[in-house]
Amino acid sequence: MGTNAIPPPGARRPLGGLRRTLVAGALGTLVLGTFAAVTVPGSAGASSSASAAATTLGAAAQQSGRYFGTAISAGRLGDSQYTTIANREFDMITAENEMKIDATEPNQNQFSFGNADRIYNWAVQNGKRVRGHTLAWHAQQPRWMENMSGSALRQAMINHINGVMNHYKGKIYAWDVVNEAFSDSGGGRRDSNLQRTGNDWIEVAFRTARAADPAAKLCYNDYNIDNWTWAKTQGVYNMVRDFKARGVPIDCVGLQSHFNSGSPYNSNYRTTIQSFAALGVDVQITELDIQGASPQTYAAVVNDCLAVPRCNGITVWGVRDQDSWRSGDTPLLFSGGNKKPAYNAVLDALNAATPNPTPSPTPTVTPTPTPTPTPTPTPTPTPGTGACTATVETTNSWPGGFQTTVTVRAGSSPVNGWTVQWAWPGGQSISSLWSGQHTVSGSNVTVRNAPYNGSIAAGQSTTFGFTGNGTAATPTATCTSP
Ligand code: G3I
Repeated sequence: MGTNAIPPPGARRPLGGLRRTLVAGALGTLVLGTFAAVTVPGSAGASSSASAAATTLGAAAQQSGRYFGTAISAGRLGDSQYTTIANREFDMITAENEMKIDATEPNQNQFSFGNADRIYNWAVQNGKRVRGHTLAWHAQQPRWMENMSGSALRQAMINHINGVMNHYKGKIYAWDVVNEAFSDSGGGRRDSNLQRTGNDWIEVAFRTARAADPAAKLCYNDYNIDNWTWAKTQGVYNMVRDFKARGVPIDCVGLQSHFNSGSPYNSNYRTTIQSFAALGVDVQITELDIQGASPQTYAAVVNDCLAVPRCNGITVWGVRDQDSWRSGDTPLLFSGGNKKPAYNAVLDALNAATPNPTPSPTPTVTPTPTPTPTPTPTPTPTPGTGACTATVETTNSWPGGFQTTVTVRAGSSPVNGWTVQWAWPGGQSISSLWSGQHTVSGSNVTVRNAPYNGSIAAGQSTTFGFTGNGTAATPTATCTSP
């Protein structure tokens, strides 16, 4: 299994190599002939000669129900060469830095969306969708968060997710909820202040995110998880499989796909995409750049995505080489205003795709249960038999919401199936519940075990949890077992 010594993507490498800025004479016109056509092995019939072939990356991707996006920097929105290319070619936009934690919550509880909104507005005003990047990450934390730990940090993370997702509620196609949480070697978690709050921080982030904006796809995003044989890939795969098995809300995996000599493209990339998709999640290629921009490698990446129906689309990490975080690697599709050979290879591969008019599934939106007001008080739940007990603990709260963990413990006999009931004291409601199945009648809530956690050995316990709307409350709950 591969370990590797790739510098973390957060580390900027020195700029190298001569960059020529070629100012396009006529940006609005198509210049497909700027470079020689590229023959791409394995890209069945790749050719843009057909009269129906699309002439931009976004339009070409749409033919198979996919998108082709780019990262946008707010500081470059005044550069007309940059915006002309970006507007013409791409139909999905990611803010390169402007939706990160340090940008959106520079001081605790003071949210700031100036540059993020600038990019969002530019995108939607030009008919594009937006990917959100990113909500919980060990890097690019504001100073106040870097210095936090434990339950205060956990609560700050939840508060941050709620604050940013509420601002963009219903407007974001997919969020990179958690970014780069795995170690570069060994397949385990990366050490970080977030990881030290407890191993469940990732699932708490996803549950919080689902409750905050049920319409957004929720992605786990990472680099060096492209090669199927690498331990890091397997670690993330195992986490996603576990999340799907336990009902943790995750919709997609983002393969950043920063390819370079230390972390090169491998032909098992398609196996990686297929394997994640087989778990029941979408796959999105979120930050593609390729050192040297080999047309063959770019085409191979596109063809691997096209081969898997649940690969939703591809985002390249910048517009022109000069915009790249690794500009010395000339890893992108444009040089100045000019299309590079890799551009033509990508366009041809997209145009050769089999049309797929059926877009891949969007997440199942679970409407927030609204308690039906009833004039007749519903009887209080019958006290338990003593076979089990339920302990309610408020683990986090924020203005207008809270998170609760309920521990269900068996008495001196084993429990096979359990039911926990309580009454809300002040109009609270559940927005998202996990590891149980709940029904609501007026202010009364009944939670039954999930299929996998009904059996509890004598003296042992299991837990379920939920996020709630309203003022945090810790009601007394009863537990019964048949
Ligand atoms: O804007 C300031 C400028 O005012 C200042 O003079 C200059 C001095 O260093 O810094 C500028 O900010 C830089 C910022 O990019 C904007 O260019 C930061 O130093 C620099 O750290 C930051 O780098 C970003 C990096 O994330 C930080 O982690 C890159 O632009 C961005 O492309 C990169 O993106 C990440 C993804 O979010 C996650 N995956 C890896 C990817 C590449 O590292």
